[in-house]
Amino acid sequence: MYYLTYRPKTIQELDNSHVRETIANLLQSKNLPHALLFVGPKGTGKTSTARIVAKAINCLDNAYLEKGTSYDPCNKCSNCTTITSGGSPDVVEQDAASNRGIDEIRRLIRESSFAPMTGTYRVYIIDEAHMITPDAFNALLKTLEEPPKSVIFILATTNEEKLPTTIISRCLRVPFGAAKKIDIIHMLKRIAESEQITIKPDLYDLIATYSENSFRDATKLLEELVVQKKLDFKEAQVYLGIRSKDSLLHIIADKDLKEAMDWIDEFVASGGNVKHSIEDMLQKLRVYLVKKATKAEDGVDINLSMKEITQLIKLLHEAYNLMKISPIEVLPLEIAVVEFYNKKHV
Ligand SMILES: Nc1ncnc2c1ncn2[C@@H]1O[C@H](COP(=O)(O)OP(=O)(O)OP(=O)(O)O)[C@@H](O)[C@H]1O
Ligand SMILES: [Mg+2]
Ligand SMILES: [Zn+2]
Repeated sequence: MYYLTYRPKTIQELDNSHVRETIANLLQSKNLPHALLFVGPKGTGKTSTARIVAKAINCLDNAYLEKGTSYDPCNKCSNCTTITSGGSPDVVEQDAASNRGIDEIRRLIRESSFAPMTGTYRVYIIDEAHMITPDAFNALLKTLEEPPKSVIFILATTNEEKLPTTIISRCLRVPFGAAKKIDIIHMLKRIAESEQITIKPDLYDLIATYSENSFRDATKLLEELVVQKKLDFKEAQVYLGIRSKDSLLHIIADKDLKEAMDWIDEFVASGGNVKHSIEDMLQKLRVYLVKKATKAEDGVDINLSMKEITQLIKLLHEAYNLMKISPIEVLPLEIAVVEFYNKKHV
């Protein structure tokens, strides 16, 4: 799995340039604050970065211990390897989604006062920190104010607005933001190079566009395209278009007949399943219809009126039934689309 293999393990490998610089500066200053708050959407590298920090300050062979010039973790010494494998007694990862109560936080606070066993610091990585209950936050607050010397807390959250401001104000906040296209492309290149796959520049761009600002999504998409052997730009475009199921619907809503017919043509040529495609569209249209009819229109991201949606449902339904007896599988869908455009423009 690319997203595990290529999870960044050094500061240098953090493709998010802003985070990379912030963390590098913090480590170089040797004055790491006792509480860090990593804020950002899913798959932007919060957990990966927290582990890198934990290793960097406990590594037995880097500049943090006056060895060499690099502040990156060596990823080879016993401290680094046990942290990577999750076996370090000094680095605790706690998922606040499942350990959110006062008892769990109290236990964590108590344990945090123990001296580190193998490294210089005990590091507590609290993922999804916004899930912690209010009284547990209160307990944590005191510790964040006066933490034991050798303890670093790293709180990570996708929902900063659910964190008490009293907690936020006691942490050094590191915003991860949505993954930027340029940083995603930087990462994709890193992977392609290591995997020795040749990818044209416009394909990097396409993958980044389809990966919803997440490094994790981009990594998974690249792997999917490699597995499906869709590394040609055109083929990848069709493939990704099919993955985002309702795109034919959006073409029908926003573009002209030619584009819709081209889409269907490429879809079929690339081995797309027409039956599934119609089923998907009908399901989407049904949701749109219900929302429009009940005037609960948030989430209706399509430029079609209620009348048009109804027409399209009828036409696609007809096409679906005709498919069973049609000698050319895709023909009924094409007829349905043409008929829809005919009606749309009278
Ligand atoms: N800065 C980055 N550079 C390169 N790859 C990254 C980066 N951040 C994340 N990834 C990829 O995304 C995957 C998920 O990263 P990570 O778990 O650190 O994100 P996260 O922000 O903690 O996400 P979540 O909120 O879903 O837990 C990693 O395994 C890695 O492959
Ligand atoms: Mg995470
Ligand atoms: Zn090391």
